[in-house]
Amino acid sequence: MEKIFFLFRFGGPQELLMITIDKQTLQKYDVAGPRYTSYPTAPEWSKQVDAAIYREKLQAFGRNDKTVSLYVHIPFCEQLCYFCACNKVIRAAEDKVGDEYLEFLFKEIDLVANTIGRRKAVKQLHWGGGTPTYLSEDQSRRLFDKIAGAFDIDFEGEIAIEIDPRTVNQLKIKSLRAMGFNRISMGIQDFDEKVQDDINRVQPYTAVKAVHEWCREAGFHSVNFDLIYGLPYQTRATFHDTVTQVIALKPDRIALYSFAYVPWLSKPQNKFNLDAMPLADEKLDIFIAAREQLLCAGYQAIAMDHFALAGDAMAIAYHQGNLHRNFMGYTLKPADEFIGLGVSAIGFVEDTYVQNVKTLPDYYKYVHEGQMPTERGALLSEDDRIRRQVINSLMCTFRVNKRKFFDTWGKEFEDYFHAEAEHIAQCVQDGLMAEDHECLAVTDSGKIFIRNICMGFDYYLRQQRGTQRYSRTV
Ligand SMILES: C[S@@+](CC[C@H](N)C(=O)[O-])C[C@H]1O[C@@H](n2cnc3c(N)ncnc32)[C@H](O)[C@@H]1O
Ligand code: SF4
Repeated sequence: MEKIFFLFRFGGPQELLMITIDKQTLQKYDVAGPRYTSYPTAPEWSKQVDAAIYREKLQAFGRNDKTVSLYVHIPFCEQLCYFCACNKVIRAAEDKVGDEYLEFLFKEIDLVANTIGRRKAVKQLHWGGGTPTYLSEDQSRRLFDKIAGAFDIDFEGEIAIEIDPRTVNQLKIKSLRAMGFNRISMGIQDFDEKVQDDINRVQPYTAVKAVHEWCREAGFHSVNFDLIYGLPYQTRATFHDTVTQVIALKPDRIALYSFAYVPWLSKPQNKFNLDAMPLADEKLDIFIAAREQLLCAGYQAIAMDHFALAGDAMAIAYHQGNLHRNFMGYTLKPADEFIGLGVSAIGFVEDTYVQNVKTLPDYYKYVHEGQMPTERGALLSEDDRIRRQVINSLMCTFRVNKRKFFDTWGKEFEDYFHAEAEHIAQCVQDGLMAEDHECLAVTDSGKIFIRNICMGFDYYLRQQRGTQRYSRTV
């Protein structure tokens, strides 16, 4: 049987180990599957959760002392990156685009804050997109002031913004810091010219280096870079060069995303030449080589696809078991509830997922009529909450403690998951998991297939509703 060998390093430089994966195992697990930024996953949500239900949940939240993480979605980008699977709207840079959006976003902020009925403490604020820095300095300031007027922002908490390095200058970076943002995340993806050209995102290293220096000078506590592996024309050698350049800048955090190839959802991905895209084993090889490079440079591996320097809050949270997973990927979890504002934004309040309408005309229409722009969501049953916790635990800590499971739910893990016993046994047989009476622990090679491991605990996937809507797990 053909074997593929990977060098895999955990923890420090002494812990180099060789893992082998045979081609059959790789093929078996290279299937379409969710990234589990929520459970139940978004395709399972329905219109059962509407504005009336969301209002009830917000009112209930208003009657307790729970705190909140706020996510604000700014959908605009000046140029389309062909790989992008985010919810974005491409517009040339014009103040009137942002002004119009803010007009409706401010109305939604009022609607949400009035429904809650009292000023709530915001422990974490995150602006994402699209590209939040599409907004001008004046627009960003007005939005920040609007949020600070409706909520009590904890300026000691994480106040984060996603920026596109191509849309900022030094003054803008300074003014974001002066507003109160203390963490910044920027899209890099790849520095190779051929790759950049093919994905329609030309972004020279020298420009990113300058933006990174401005962020440091402005005093941001933490800087994150997003990278993607599996893009067309990437090879192990080209990506090695990209990672070398990234390491030279030493961002505090790196998100190393697997390219989600979903051309039926993100039509511009159809432009890619399939022959130029790395095959599953090449893609895995690129990931593992990059991982190795980052660990040797002093980064710590954080769960599935993040890396952080030792003192960074994300590394600390991971080691303390306090990492959390939501629609933005891995985050810290300082607050009880999660509210999303803006077109397509997602929230999680009182055990209920809610998502806003996904198109701008719909968003403007509902908000103009004074209605909450809720499109769909999911009310979690007890089974959903149990499975959500198990999947989160696997995704964030690579283990499930059966005693803790019993303490939380009053049920024996083996009894509750007897229908999953075969899946667990198969994972153990394939060397992805180890099991004893106390714990399920993902092995080193299992970490590569963590999405597949979680899929076995997904009730809805078991109903054979199909997985074709997801990207591949490898
Ligand atoms: C909202 S963007 C980041 C901010 C800004 N728009 C930019 O691109 O610089 C979020 C990140 O999602 C990741 N992303 C987008 N589409 C992806 C895909 N198809 N597969 C994997 N990662 C993807 C990229 O790494 C991107 O930086
Ligand atoms: S990667 Fe960022 S800049 Fe590019 S289209 Fe997506 S959201 Fe916009």
